[in-house]
Amino acid sequence: MQKITVVGAGNVGATAAQRVAEKELAREVVMVDIAEGIPQGKALDQWESAPVEGFDSRVIGTNGYDEAAGSGIFIVTAGIARKPGMSRDDLLKTNAKIVRDVSENIARVAPDSIIIMVSNPLDVMCWVAKEASGFPRERVIGMAGVLDTARYRSFLALELDVSVEDIQAMVLGGHGDTMVPLISYTTVSGIPVTQLIDRDRLDAIVDRTRKGGAEIVGYLKTGSAYYAPSAGAVQMAEAIVKDKKRILPCAAWLEGEYGMDGLFLGVPCKLGRNGLEKILEVELTDGERKDLEASAEAVREPMRSLQ
Ligand code: APR
Repeated sequence: MQKITVVGAGNVGATAAQRVAEKELAREVVMVDIAEGIPQGKALDQWESAPVEGFDSRVIGTNGYDEAAGSGIFIVTAGIARKPGMSRDDLLKTNAKIVRDVSENIARVAPDSIIIMVSNPLDVMCWVAKEASGFPRERVIGMAGVLDTARYRSFLALELDVSVEDIQAMVLGGHGDTMVPLISYTTVSGIPVTQLIDRDRLDAIVDRTRKGGAEIVGYLKTGSAYYAPSAGAVQMAEAIVKDKKRILPCAAWLEGEYGMDGLFLGVPCKLGRNGLEKILEVELTDGERKDLEASAEAVREPMRSLQ
């Protein structure tokens, strides 16, 4: 791919840009941020790592969108973190305004691009981006499930003392406390996880997964996770750039799938050259279906408050 742009050169954005460059997913990696000097400085620093790391993706930083023109993919991480005294609703409205502005600019300079949304609250920001860009659902996809699933897989690998690569799993639903880890689809090299870990331990791991973001914030105090979130976004970008047709849990705009309509929610998606190429509808247990519906309601509520 000729060009990939990361909007927001903060912790998640800058780490994503570095990962994209190191994997040489694009000839040019552009970082856009409103903070003067930050994207320029970080991009130059990253580019100066190229001779050591051995990549030829050219990294540049800018405060505008001209340099992003024609990008095939935009990874959007722009936003602000919740400040003391700020309500969840204030944060929602502030980030919605930022994401709206970013998405309009994306549609202007790269009308055929694919947006990978990372800014929170994730599922709602995907919706804002879809509305503001006017892009079809194939080209607005949210990164949450890959991260939530990675956390779940990493905890399972620790519990079993096996390779993370041998844990197959899928976490669906909204990105938050209501996410839905699918125990029924969790396997270790094909072996159902329920044969290897007893139910109480599994429930504890599911609970830790649900609170995975908060656990990191609890340590960092002044920021939130960025190594795993950026890895998740870049895995999605790689699936698109290389047309890998990967099946990954992503936030996608539902049009009747899982009996739901008119919202973004984490579901199994096929990602390839065209972005979201298919949503896979898998069988769920009654409990999982109920949990998914509750999770959808937790996404619809902030959507209503933005209308
Ligand atoms: N356009 C471009 N960049 C913007 C804009 C805007 N309108 N508004 C804010 N930014 C930039 C900030 O200047 C900052 O550099 O977004 C960046 C956000 O970076 P951090 O504060 O470091 O936040 P980060 O940890 O990277 O998280 C970014 O991803 O995982 C989510 O919840 C997280 O919504 C948050 C986002």
